[in-house]
Amino acid sequence: MTVNEVRQRFLKFFEARGHTIVTSAPLVPENDPSVLFTTAGMQQFKPYYTGEKDALKDFGSKNAVSIQKCIRTSDIDEVGDATHLTFFEMLGNFSFGGYVRKEAIAYAHEFITKELELSISYVTVYKGSENVPRDEKSKENWKSLGVVDVREEGADVFWGPTGNAGPCGPTTEIYCKDANGKDVEIWNIVFNEYFCNGSREQLDKGEAKLTKLPFLGIDTGMGLERLAAILQKKESVYETDAFPTHPVSRSERIVADHTRAAEALIQEGVEPSNIGRGYVLRRLIRRAVLHADRIGTKISDRFKDEETRFRKTLTAGLKEFEKGTDPFVLFTSYGFPLELTRELAKEKGVAVDTKEFEKAFEKHKEISRAGAEKKFKGGLADTSEMSVKYHTATHLLHQALRDVLGNEVQQKGSNITPERLRFDFAFPRKMTDEEKKRVEEIVNEKIKEGLPVQKVILPLSEAKKTGALHFFDEKYPDEVLVHYVGSSLDTAYSKEFCGGPHIANTGVLGTFKIAKEEAVSAGVRRIKATLE
Ligand code: SER
Repeated sequence: MTVNEVRQRFLKFFEARGHTIVTSAPLVPENDPSVLFTTAGMQQFKPYYTGEKDALKDFGSKNAVSIQKCIRTSDIDEVGDATHLTFFEMLGNFSFGGYVRKEAIAYAHEFITKELELSISYVTVYKGSENVPRDEKSKENWKSLGVVDVREEGADVFWGPTGNAGPCGPTTEIYCKDANGKDVEIWNIVFNEYFCNGSREQLDKGEAKLTKLPFLGIDTGMGLERLAAILQKKESVYETDAFPTHPVSRSERIVADHTRAAEALIQEGVEPSNIGRGYVLRRLIRRAVLHADRIGTKISDRFKDEETRFRKTLTAGLKEFEKGTDPFVLFTSYGFPLELTRELAKEKGVAVDTKEFEKAFEKHKEISRAGAEKKFKGGLADTSEMSVKYHTATHLLHQALRDVLGNEVQQKGSNITPERLRFDFAFPRKMTDEEKKRVEEIVNEKIKEGLPVQKVILPLSEAKKTGALHFFDEKYPDEVLVHYVGSSLDTAYSKEFCGGPHIANTGVLGTFKIAKEEAVSAGVRRIKATLE
């Protein structure tokens, strides 16, 4: 069965069982700055699990099916073996309050054993923890379908959340034998019963909490290439028709996987850089160049610019590496991503001190950030509690002025003391009394709503894309801090590039009053305002 047939069969199977076909989301998530890439099919559906969005309304069904392209770099060191890839497609069926464990398990069982005619070696279910009960129901469901080997496992079979927060829950994994006779996990059914208010890392450290979601959600994922290898009786994913060139050696496979992933990222507008998504892309291309050299091939012309840039320092960098040069110098002067240096060192059987690297790297980042903060600390002369409140009020005022007077309002200056705020902005005429009143009302509404004030560090181009307010003619560093007022960046009332201190919630600001509105110079107005 070709990969394309597998795709079609999967979609048809679930469509026939009441699922709406939804197209793959982009690799660069549209409304989730907390993650670099789409790593799972469920990611685009996060708001449907929490009840923020209604699947029935948007898809005409509570159930959806998709084939999602994904990028995962967590297993990048394993790429080159039989099953790991950085870019892959995930087949998934989803339910947002439609069906529950019984149906989800029965569908998977039917698809694998009847449609694909494979046999299941064993499955896993969650054995429970302090806060989450043992998954008895899944166990019963599997047994009733005749699957006898049901293994209870711990943290590995509790899935998610992705990013800073989100849906998560116990999972059941399905294992089948591959052509080498090894059991491979092919499918994973997650029961999204909980919302975690922090990342997985925070959850594992006990720093985040689980609350029950309004209904049980189903989220499943099956790696297309892995499944194809089993169906086509191939020893690795690289021998399937997903990789027409069938790379054999580890270096060949790394080149094939990394260039495929890099192509996909470039197609979505990612450019090589030293931070965030761009850094991942840079790593992929540079590692591909290194391995292409070893096997004497050339990587695609699409990466020419980045390849040329790297080639300028590659030979010299490799010489420096042989001399035992510091990884941080290899990074800053020779463009060797840390991971690349680590890989080279591992091949030689020497260790790399990543802690030292991270320390040096943090320091390097702090220097550029300190520069940025100095410039954009928002006109604060001191950081008393009152001044900090005025600073947050200034952000609300800025947005309220744009709401009332239009987007030609542009910040020209800000000055804050513990007694008042002063805000200068571009606008051609005096404000009317009604306009001033309306601005006051809006700011006071936003105070009453008790909105959280949050921040996120983003690469400059990403930050600009969020629509956050900033000085257009300023030079900003590669990474900027965006402060936003609201529960999420895409729904925030106010968003600004800003490195200064803010109060955590608008609820504590008191009552906002405009004391004066006057001209500073032609086309520039000044507002003085107080909080009482
Ligand atoms: N979210 C789960 C995974 O990525 C199932 O789709 O494995």
